[in-house]
Order: sequence, then C-alpha cells, then structure tokens
Amino acid sequence: MKKYLFQIFVLLFCSLKSIADEGMWLPQLLQTLNEKQMKKMGMKINASDIYNINKGSLKDAIVSLGGFCTAEVISNQGLILTNHHCGFDAVQNHSSLEHNYIRDGFWAYNKNQELQNQGLFVSFIISIDEVTNAIIKDINNNMTEKERQSVIDKNIAQIKKDYKKETYQDIFIRPFFEGNKYFLFVTETYKDVRLVGAPPASIGNFGKDTDNWMWPRHTGDFSMFRIYADKNNHPAEFSPENIPYTPKKSLAISLKGMKEGDFTMVFGFPGRTNEYLSAAAIKQIMMVNDPAKIKIRHEALDIMKSFMTKDEGIKIQYAAKYASIENAYKKWQGEVLGLTKSNAIQKKLDYQAQFTSRLASNPEWQSQYGKILEELSSTYKEIESLTFARDYYNEIMPKIELFNVAAALTSHISNLGKDDAANLDKNKKINGKIDDIFNEYNAVLDQQLFEKLLTLYVNDQPKENTSPLLQELLTIKTIHEIANDIYTASVMTKADNIKSILAGDSKSLVDIIKNDNLFRLYTDINETYTNKIGNKISSIQLNINKLQRQYMEAQLTVFNDKVFYPDANSTLRVTYGNVKGYQPRDGMNYDYYTYMDGVMEKYKPGDYEFDLPKKLIDLYTAKDFGRYGVDGRQPVCFIAANHTTGGNSGSPALDAYGNLVGLNFDRVWEGTMSDINYDPSICRNIMVDIRYVLFIIDKFAGASNLIEEMKIVKK
Ligand code: ARG
Ligand code: GLU
Repeated sequence: MKKYLFQIFVLLFCSLKSIADEGMWLPQLLQTLNEKQMKKMGMKINASDIYNINKGSLKDAIVSLGGFCTAEVISNQGLILTNHHCGFDAVQNHSSLEHNYIRDGFWAYNKNQELQNQGLFVSFIISIDEVTNAIIKDINNNMTEKERQSVIDKNIAQIKKDYKKETYQDIFIRPFFEGNKYFLFVTETYKDVRLVGAPPASIGNFGKDTDNWMWPRHTGDFSMFRIYADKNNHPAEFSPENIPYTPKKSLAISLKGMKEGDFTMVFGFPGRTNEYLSAAAIKQIMMVNDPAKIKIRHEALDIMKSFMTKDEGIKIQYAAKYASIENAYKKWQGEVLGLTKSNAIQKKLDYQAQFTSRLASNPEWQSQYGKILEELSSTYKEIESLTFARDYYNEIMPKIELFNVAAALTSHISNLGKDDAANLDKNKKINGKIDDIFNEYNAVLDQQLFEKLLTLYVNDQPKENTSPLLQELLTIKTIHEIANDIYTASVMTKADNIKSILAGDSKSLVDIIKNDNLFRLYTDINETYTNKIGNKISSIQLNINKLQRQYMEAQLTVFNDKVFYPDANSTLRVTYGNVKGYQPRDGMNYDYYTYMDGVMEKYKPGDYEFDLPKKLIDLYTAKDFGRYGVDGRQPVCFIAANHTTGGNSGSPALDAYGNLVGLNFDRVWEGTMSDINYDPSICRNIMVDIRYVLFIIDKFAGASNLIEEMKIVKK
C-alpha cells in the first residue's frame, strides 16, 4: 500500500513537473507518463486507444515511410497519406517531359493506374519492449568504449536470435537516453507500395523555398500511396498478384476543423533531436558546424538553380536533390538565428548551474558526476576544428556526382573476389546504381560544382588537411583546367563507358579504374580525410559518447523530480499540444489558421514558386469548396504546439478523439531551433488541414474513388 501511494505521488508530481508541449513520448509509456496531462489538455480517448498490442489501436495505422518520413493508413484498402515532399522522389522517378507529374500532378482513378516504386517500403510497429537489463548485463565501468560496444552488440545479437517472432516480421533494438536504456521493436515491412496520387507541385510545394520553414503557410503538401500485401495480407516483394493491404486500424477523418486551444497530437517517426547537449556542444553547432554547412550549400544551390531555371529537363532531373539540399540549408540558418535569439547557450549554462548545485548536495553524485561538464567542454574544444573539416568533407563530396560514381565503384571493386564469373555477376548489380546517378546528372552543372566546391575545400582549410594530389595539380593548372581534364577524359563521366568496363574481366576493370584521374583524386581526398581527420574524430567521438551517456545518466539521477523524454531516434513517438498562434516578434501576432484567400494573395502567374493551376483558381473564384469549406472559405493550414522534427513529415495530426484532422509537414521559422532547445512560446508545427487535402482530391482532381474509400466521421 505504501509503495502504491508512493507511486501515485511520483506520478502526480511528475505530471505537474513535465513541461506542457515539449517532448516526443514513447507510445507504450503514455499511460504511465502522459495520459493524465493529455486528458487535462483536452484528450478524450485513452492511452490504450493509442498504443495497444492486444487489439487494433492508433499505432497500427502509422507507418514509417522509407525510413525518412511518416505515413498513415486512411482506408481499409491500405491507402496511405503522406506529404508531397515525402513522395516526391517517387513522383519525380515517374516523370518525364511527356508525363510531367511534378508539374501536372498524378491521380490513379482506379487501382490499375497505380504506379510501382522500386525500393520504397513502409514499416508498421507491432510491439515495443524495454530490454535494457538484457543488453547491459555484462557491462562494467572498467571497460573501454570499444569493449563496451562489443558486449552490447553481442547481447543485441543474442536477444534478436532468441526473440519469438513470425517469419514475416523483423526486429531491431535501439539505444535511448544516449545508451542508458534500450528498446526492442518488432516490425512488419511491406515492400510493394504504389503511387496513388499527388497534386501538381504548384499545390503540393506551393511557395517552395521562399515559404519553406515559414508561417503563414499555404501549401497542400500531401501525396497518397497504397500498400500491397500477399494473399495472406503479409509483406511481399512487388508482384502483380499482390492485393491491397487490409489494416488492423485505419484512421477516421473529421471535417470539423480545429479551434484555438483544441487538443492535437502528432504520431510518427521523428528522426533526430539533441535536447540534452551541454552549452559547449551548442556553441560549436552555432559557431562552427551550421555555418560551415550553410556556406557549402549556399554555393551549391546557386549553381544548381542557375541551370534549373533555364532548362526544364534539368529542373526535373535535379528537383528532388535541390529541394533536399535547400531544406536543411534553410533550416540551419533558422536554427542559428533561433538559438541566438532564445539565448540557448545562456539557458544551458543556467541549467548546468542548477545541475552543479544539485551535485554539490550529494557527495556520491559529486564524486561520480562532478567532472563531466568540464570534460565535455574540453573534449568539444579538442574536436572543434576537426568537425569543421568533417562538415566540409561531408557536404562537398556527395554534391559532386562524379565523386558519387567514384564512391560506388570504389566500394564495388573492394568487394570483388578471385572468381571472375562471380565478379561479373556482382558487376551487373551495380549497373542500376550507376543508372540512378546518371539519370539525375548534367555534366556541365556537375563540373561547375566540382570547381566551386573544391576551391572552397582548398581555400578554407589548413593545407595539411587537404589532398596533396590536388595541391600539386593546382601548382601547374587552374581548377578549371583540372576539371576540364577530368570531365573530358575520365572513363567515369558516361554510364555507357562504365557499363562496358563492368562487362569485362575484373583485372582490367580494377586497372582502368585505378588509373583514372578522377578516381585518383577521389581516393587522395578520401585518404587524406581518413588519416588527418576521420580517424581522430572517431576516437574523440567515442569519448564524447561516453561523457554524453554519463551526463544523461546524471541528469536523470539528479533531476529525479522531472520527467524526461528520450531524444528522437527515428522510432515511433507521440507529441501533443494545443492549437495556437504565436508572436514571432515584438508587436506582431500570428494567427493559427490560413485560408485559400491567402493562397490567392500569394499567387504570381508564371512564377517559379507561386504560380497556381487554373483549375484551382476557378474553384476558388466559384467558391466551389463542397463540404470542405466553412462559411464560404476554404481552410488550408494550421499550427499547434506539437514538438516535431524531420521525419515527422507526413505524420497525422489527430484531434481529441484520435480522428485525422491534418497532416504535419513543417515547423515555423522562429522555432526551428527546437531540435536543440525547444521553446514553447515560439515553437509550432505546421499542418495542412485535412479539408484542404480532401478538397484537392475531390474537387480539384475529381478522384472521388479515393474519397469513397475513406471513413469520414461527424464527431
Ligand atoms: N521543411 C519541410 C521539411 O523539413 C518541408 C520540406 C519540403 N519543401 C521544400 N521546399 N524543400 O521537410
Ligand atoms: N518537413 C520535415 C520532414 O521532412 C518535418 C518538419 C520538421 O523538421 O519539423 O520531416
């Protein structure tokens, strides 16, 4: 009884102490940690309606899409909804100058018109279990980080082997709280996922880069796919025999819309946050890493854009690449601004002062954790200039497509054996990869990237960190001449050349590749990086990981009156908060809803970012919104205080009853620092109203076949 009372006390205390809005919570712990607060904030269902392993619950309608976005099941025939920008790669792959689905949109008016997507998959989470004890059982404090990791890897392998699961299921185990806890996930992954619908980019990506990460927003950022299963409803590779998947749960859709203060939750797969860093780490991100990455991307985007605006073919080829480079580029700028404006470093220093004074109150804590912050800060100093070189390397190399070709071939030839026949077989397998690269390649554009980015590479870094071969070449030639030599003479500049070499014997393959100028330069840059930077970073990083794990353990220990949520790590999470606007600046108020009137205000005929399809304008002019409008207006987007991050794109926004009311796709500019320093006063997630989504499907595209599949409720 006493224990029971104590637990109640802890729970009560905890829920009072946890900060409203902040947090990405584990669905299986909602009942213990969050249900009470969620109900207080307006939720009308129970935690067991959200996560339940014994009967269909909301979690059974949520999938990870391709490991990078979220999608949700919205019909009993496996129809799923996600963002336009999440399905964009698929839309682009099916697009050509004749069938320009990026520009014109794509709609399947029956299942036969749906399009297959190689490599795209969705994963359901079947169950989640804590396995911390079984993972860390053989670990002690005298182990080095490497020894520790190898014990953990061994235990993970053992648990995976012993765990009872169906043959069509998979298991993965992930660390949480910087390796202080471990959870096991049983998943089911479906690999036949077909494209069903996407609006024209002028709706799905309306406002493009100018509006990206911004409120007020007017984007219909959605697309639809369908999951196919084998005849037992189990996962299967693509086959024409497959049938639409029958879900355990599909989301009901509410057309009621949201009012200020209404409860919302977002259920999905947030990728990565860093809420428990030290002030030293945040300073490094703000001063060194974000600026380095921003600079490289700025130059790369300038070059890409100059080609894309002139040539519709290049625009199609580079659209997805451009959007993804631009997306993080803009976010990092917002992040630096937000961290600066919200005084993130000072806030962390204040928090650290509290931490230090708690340590001082307990001699045991003091002796165990007393040195961590100091060590973290000296270790971050030690790694700082190396991380600049790392960011330059990571940003520059993959932007130059010929280096991606070189990378693919390098790893390929290192996997070849003595048996020529077996090698030929392997050779065939990388043809597809080579095609993928060259399908989205323009030689003149790539050469400009090569020249510009390698110039930054040598100019912005100490000599000893850059490739000796490149330095030597630069003493006799300009970067332009070096690039000309490579882009005219290298065997790696044409897919056909490479394929014909791949069709030959492996000895001459290796010889040709090794003597190629591009390959030699690529190898030299790589080796210089590994020897001068990469190896050093790896060993210091081990130390940082260890300190960070101890710091996390210490925070969990000394702030035991606070409920912590683990940083995002691409696992299933629930975040919840109320619909509300915010004050971006002094004297300025942002409303929480946008309407089609705003779409029209932004409309610029013929513009790269703000053009609109004629049909949409006609529907607006006629106020032909069907049942999706309210009082003669068509709602478009809204915001709420849900703590989301990259990966939450495509996540459902659910109302108090668990009905689908919107689709998460972005955050507001002033709050993009929320990955590092969540601030409830200005951090908002942006969702497209489900009524705008249905209006586009129904009224704009006339795809009533899809509307008929959905379950639309009154509540
Ligand atoms: N900022 C959103 C996200 O992080 C949307 C990105 C897609 N839109 C774009 N213009 N790139 O993914
Ligand atoms: N657009 C982001 C994504 O692709 C979600 C927005 C965010 O980062 O919060 O996941």
